[in-house]
Amino acid sequence: MSVQAYGAAGVPEIDSAPTQEVVWHHRHLLDVDALTWPEIELIMRTTDEMKGILARPIRKVPALNGRRVTTLFYEASTRTRVSFETAARNLSADVVSISTATSSVTKGESLVDTIRTLEALGAEILVMRHSVSGAPYLAAEVFGGHVLNGGDGWHAHPTQALLDLYTMRQHLPGGDLRGRKVAIVGDILHSRVARSNIWSLTAAGADLWLCGPATLLRGMDRWATAWGDGAIPGHGRFHVTSDVEVAVRDADVVMALRIQRERMQGGLLPSLREYAARFGLNAERVSLAKPEAIVMHPGPMNEGVEIAPDVAVSGRAVITEQVANGVAVRMALLYLLAGAHETGRPHDAHSGEAIR
Ligand code: NCD
Repeated sequence: MSVQAYGAAGVPEIDSAPTQEVVWHHRHLLDVDALTWPEIELIMRTTDEMKGILARPIRKVPALNGRRVTTLFYEASTRTRVSFETAARNLSADVVSISTATSSVTKGESLVDTIRTLEALGAEILVMRHSVSGAPYLAAEVFGGHVLNGGDGWHAHPTQALLDLYTMRQHLPGGDLRGRKVAIVGDILHSRVARSNIWSLTAAGADLWLCGPATLLRGMDRWATAWGDGAIPGHGRFHVTSDVEVAVRDADVVMALRIQRERMQGGLLPSLREYAARFGLNAERVSLAKPEAIVMHPGPMNEGVEIAPDVAVSGRAVITEQVANGVAVRMALLYLLAGAHETGRPHDAHSGEAIR
């Protein structure tokens, strides 16, 4: 399929016969756990199309012409927000960007009031980041359009997990993660990136290892054990370890996560220096992984803490590819969500079993 034309009603149109049978039914994207595997594959294929658009001299198509995308970020962000806004503009949507520092939120307006106001002002697709886990779920209850979660608290960051998956598939033979060892090292406790990645990577069949100091892995061992016991049928299990060498050895993918100082209560880490010495991804540790292994980081990086500066710019690092793929994945999601709306059947029924 190719995303080029748009129909009389402004409906995104595919100008050759679609080959896949999966139909996108989701009105919102709040986390990856509500998706089925065929839906995740549909997102990956649609992202391929969007990459094609991004490779053209003029990176703009009219697919979302006249559609209104609003970004509402209650937390600091550079790449996620710019990535969503670039994605929306590449599809010719009108973009309104709201920073809570300059909005009426500072005058005490509630989240629900803010969302109702934005809807009355014409917002159709709301991209939202919030420091409270679950806030986008509340937004989805009151907002008449589509809600896309750009990260909520420690809970979920679905577009990051999808761009991570896309980037891994680009580098693995046949794009197949089954049996591939993926090590995620860092501040797992506070990481919505890790939580969303657990769903998508185990659904992809990866051999997933989460690694960090015990204080930053709290609760994960119980989750891993429950899955190992078959609590979630069909899910690959994942492992939890505080031994970075065990996590990284023979890995196909090594992902560092930021130490989230802004969410850290006292006592979880003795010091950043100690963390860097015991867990930081340096060249020696990365050399334990497979020779062709890739190194990832969702950003923003604390170089010299969770990742050594030379590792971050090494030939194995695909960190800027992640950023570039993020635009294509978000274009795909905006496109799919907008299409669901136009069919007049926006609902949250699944075509099959959700990966959760
Ligand atoms: C992450 C986030 O905000 O959750 N960053 C991102 O979206 N690229 C990770 C982080 O803040 O460390």
